Amino acid sequence: MVVVVSESPEYKAIEAWVAKGIPHLRELLGSPERNAELRLEAEGMVMDYARQRLTPETMGLLFALARATGVEAKRDAMFGGVKINETEGRAVYHVALRAAKGEPMLADGVDQEPLVQSTLEKIATFSEAVRSGSWVGATGKPLTSILAIGIGGSYLGPEFLYEALKAYPKIGKKLDLRFLANVDPVDFARQTVGLDPETTLAVVVSKSFTTAETMMNANVVKRWLLEKVPEISKHVVAVSTQLDLTTKFGISEANVFPFGDYVGGRFSVHSPVGMLPLALAYGYDACAEFLAGARSMDRHFMTAPLESNLPVVLGLLGLYNSTFLGYACKALLPYSQALVRFAAHVQQLDCESNGKSVAMDGTPLPFETGEIVFGEPGTNGQHSFYQLLHQGRVVPCEFVAFASSNADVAGIKPISNHDELMCNFFAQPDALACGQDDPDPHKRFPGNRPSLSILVRDQVSPFTMGQLLALYEHRVAVQGFVWGINSFDQWGVQLGKVLAKQVAKAIESKDTSAFNSSTKALLDTYLKNKK
Ligand code: F6P
Repeated sequence: MVVVVSESPEYKAIEAWVAKGIPHLRELLGSPERNAELRLEAEGMVMDYARQRLTPETMGLLFALARATGVEAKRDAMFGGVKINETEGRAVYHVALRAAKGEPMLADGVDQEPLVQSTLEKIATFSEAVRSGSWVGATGKPLTSILAIGIGGSYLGPEFLYEALKAYPKIGKKLDLRFLANVDPVDFARQTVGLDPETTLAVVVSKSFTTAETMMNANVVKRWLLEKVPEISKHVVAVSTQLDLTTKFGISEANVFPFGDYVGGRFSVHSPVGMLPLALAYGYDACAEFLAGARSMDRHFMTAPLESNLPVVLGLLGLYNSTFLGYACKALLPYSQALVRFAAHVQQLDCESNGKSVAMDGTPLPFETGEIVFGEPGTNGQHSFYQLLHQGRVVPCEFVAFASSNADVAGIKPISNHDELMCNFFAQPDALACGQDDPDPHKRFPGNRPSLSILVRDQVSPFTMGQLLALYEHRVAVQGFVWGINSFDQWGVQLGKVLAKQVAKAIESKDTSAFNSSTKALLDTYLKNKK
């Protein structure tokens, strides 16, 4: 059996196709038949990938690679609750979080659906009590501000959602929701500006309930609350898988929103990690819609043939660009200000999952995996880094936009503000792909820069956000399946944590002798200068 995918004939066939030379995108785009074949419509969205440096023949080779690497079987194992996260001995079962009510979701022979549903009911009841003012703080005042404390996957997805739905018109009452992630004390100072402990509810979000930053921040917030309220039972709740640790912290089990440890941090936005803050800020209905959107994308991923499967095609295109064409980066460019934190969320999802260097069995890989993800909403990004995209380095781009706006206004032109935004969404991919000749080399655009465009027929809503995030989650999984890596562990973040603990001891004892001369000099400077 082939352990490393690059040894497979399917992989070599793609390498050979690329080696023959790929026509310029200007030329490729000249074929309406090709363009029609490289467009996919499903799940209320159109994905146009005619601006990828390939042809339908290349796609055929990529689908053959997906089949040879067992993408369908691996996907089915994930949906079947099998322990495909082999290095941690766990199932990868975030899809259980959005399964339909009553649908059995077995992990390790145990149906997870009852826990998922009962937690969702608990979220609905609790959020309604807080929002209606029937849940009051220790001094009898309703709680009007939420402070969510968490980092990484326990922060980025929830923040993405909160930002995305700020202008969604169907939400009535909105509670103030803030996120405290960084252990930098300045973050605490910034996030608590204007907050009153008597009217604040802190939600400590940590799957492990051991993450250093979150635990430090949770304790600082506890102290801050206790300066003004006699006790915290009405002011602190938790989202975690570790009930013993939440109890130890002083949070009763009734105030903990649990989930299974088969949900990875970066895949946890559909768990109470994302649903509790969302329900508190915007009401539970938004959660139900969001989960339905994800469920819909899950079904599509499970049932659509590879050739018309959005996450599969999206995943294979990213893999083609990075592994076969050698583009290390990917730019995520939503033409939607609501998606202001989309790139940050997908960055963690993608980089923490697929930034690996060995196959599942530990064999070193002779190629690099993962893509360096960055991005910014358009058109802001156009006035920032697009110069580099057009005339500097080649970075495959993913454009995302919505047919309707949440808050369109008539502009100063005959077209609306949303139309103006969309003009750029349609113009940029062609500028990148086709370029432009000019006698002045400074004004020349080489073109041939790949991109794809996702146009959602609807507007930004909890449902479309559920679809979009599930699409990107599955994209990551598909790539990992083909590369043959474990996308679901994150051992690479451990070493830095261990070394930070050693530094903490040195700061405490003021003894820096155990470090190399470079670190020692820096540490000594810090200790001498800190006030
Ligand atoms: O950065 C490492 C990591 O473990 C992420 O995978 C995770 O999302 C984050 O830390 C927070 O973890 P926890 O929810 O356990 O506090």
